[in-house]
Amino acid sequence: MEKWMKQLEKEMHAAFEKAGYDPSYGKVTLSNRPDLCEFQCNGAMAGAKTYRKAPIMIAGDVTEQLKDSPVFESVEAVNPGFINLKLSKEFLKSYLQEMYQDENLSLQKTSSPKTIIIDYGGPNVAKPLHVGHLRSAIIGESIKRIGRKLGHKMIGDVHLGDWGLQMGLIITEVRHRQPDLVYFQEDYQGEYPKEAPFTISELEEIYPSASARSKEDEQYRQEALEATHLLQQGHRGYMALWEHIMNVSIRDLKRNYEKLNVEFDLWKKESDAQPYIPDMVEKMKQEGYAYEDQGALVVDVKEEQDTKEVPPCILLKSDGASLYTTTDLATIVERMKLFHPDEILYVVDKRQELHFIQVFRCARKTKIVEPDTALSFLGFGTMNGKDGKPFKTREGGVMRLENLISEIDEEMFKKIVENRSVRDKEAEKTAEIVGLSAIKYGDLSNQATKDYIFDVDRFTSFEGNTGPYILYTIVRIKSILSRYQEEGGTLGGKELLAAANDSEKALMLELTRYREVIENAFEEKAPHKICAYIYEISNAFNRFYHETKILSEENESQKSSWLILLDLTRQVLESCIDMLGFSAPERM
Ligand code: ARG
Repeated sequence: MEKWMKQLEKEMHAAFEKAGYDPSYGKVTLSNRPDLCEFQCNGAMAGAKTYRKAPIMIAGDVTEQLKDSPVFESVEAVNPGFINLKLSKEFLKSYLQEMYQDENLSLQKTSSPKTIIIDYGGPNVAKPLHVGHLRSAIIGESIKRIGRKLGHKMIGDVHLGDWGLQMGLIITEVRHRQPDLVYFQEDYQGEYPKEAPFTISELEEIYPSASARSKEDEQYRQEALEATHLLQQGHRGYMALWEHIMNVSIRDLKRNYEKLNVEFDLWKKESDAQPYIPDMVEKMKQEGYAYEDQGALVVDVKEEQDTKEVPPCILLKSDGASLYTTTDLATIVERMKLFHPDEILYVVDKRQELHFIQVFRCARKTKIVEPDTALSFLGFGTMNGKDGKPFKTREGGVMRLENLISEIDEEMFKKIVENRSVRDKEAEKTAEIVGLSAIKYGDLSNQATKDYIFDVDRFTSFEGNTGPYILYTIVRIKSILSRYQEEGGTLGGKELLAAANDSEKALMLELTRYREVIENAFEEKAPHKICAYIYEISNAFNRFYHETKILSEENESQKSSWLILLDLTRQVLESCIDMLGFSAPERM
């Protein structure tokens, strides 16, 4: 079906043309005076100069052409030359009827599907997921789902951090604690044990102690650097230990991401880029891009117009070890080879922006990326506590993601039990579903690049611009629909009627925007636009609901029409929250 605004504009274009003006002046926009009209056209003002006529006269001429328009119910020329438009209820109804019959609810798959690798999540092996990883997971997952809905090939890659100093630190700490393990015997030839020498909770304690010690003990730090380097060179014992770290850690990460309803297509990691490093570096050297500077191998990436200094990309340190930049570059080489994507999108903390500027410039300059592959960075802001500082536990430590989730779930559980509309057995499961909406909506409703305040009380509230409010609206609709069905009603073969009152029309108008909102949210990588949209739909629905007695309506065709509208509202809302990465329970 044709785009909604296009349909309105077509009518307007024709009117301008019939009145003797250039049709392109017939641009229609949402009204910025919703108290006066629903849409407006400012074309008469724009055309005044060309036609040397007062805008109000042009507006009058055009209005004359629209007297019997099937699209607009009222068309008014107002000073100094605006055209105020109200939509025909019949026309509105027909569009929604068509939308209701379309399994994609008017959304159209793109005619030029792109392959887009989306690099999000980015957890580091052996470190528990903490709130710092939350935003990447939530925002990345949503953009992936929106793109998929529009027909793009979205490939989500978790890109685990498993190749940096943290691995050397863990290896060093394990060595200090259990020096007799076979992994540390240089002449050991046999097979390594299948069992890891640590559990996940031990591992999570090993890393912070190693990291703390390395800051005080220079010799220890050197050992860790050396271990990192040996690992990168493929040291047999360290590789075996690394394997254990990976297994123990990935199991835990998967469990955590599952709780967040976040799913990756690829569980690739920094170390997967290692095999590409030697050739990549060699090529950069041979082609004259890379040169030695104080022992390190670097590529200049500064540009003339830079206002801030962009330091060179360091490919290899003086000891030959690779860095975060090196693995990111080599990962681009791998991704080009395996997927030849149209775009690689990184959803990472905006504090890493400089790193990505360096990596992107270096990749372009050295041509490891094809010119037609876009490299983009969506840098997100910090999640702060109520004090405006990065979110912490009550004790001031780093909050584990797991704990944050259970804290929210508990809060939700309390509220749901207070509501007592759900049997206790289900309440816990429901609390998890609603809790996830609280966390995700709380995050996604803010523009990604901005910092935001994680406010548990506000996010878990059933009122206001929150996830639970949206779910509450959906559940309300579901319960009306199921009562109708229990009473023997069905929607098959029933028709939507034109809006019977203003609040119904307002709800209908909101629903027409679905396709435009989703396309725009994807284009701008802005899930917050979907949040704003479903908040408006929910408000419009609740206003309509409070003013309309639906199930007690005696006119059967009116009643079934309203139920169709409810069902369409539900479908739009559920489709939107699915793109945001959460779902609604049956009851709450
Ligand atoms: N592991 C990194 C960190 O915790 C994030 C990785 C982001 N992705 C990337 N390709 N660099 O900071």
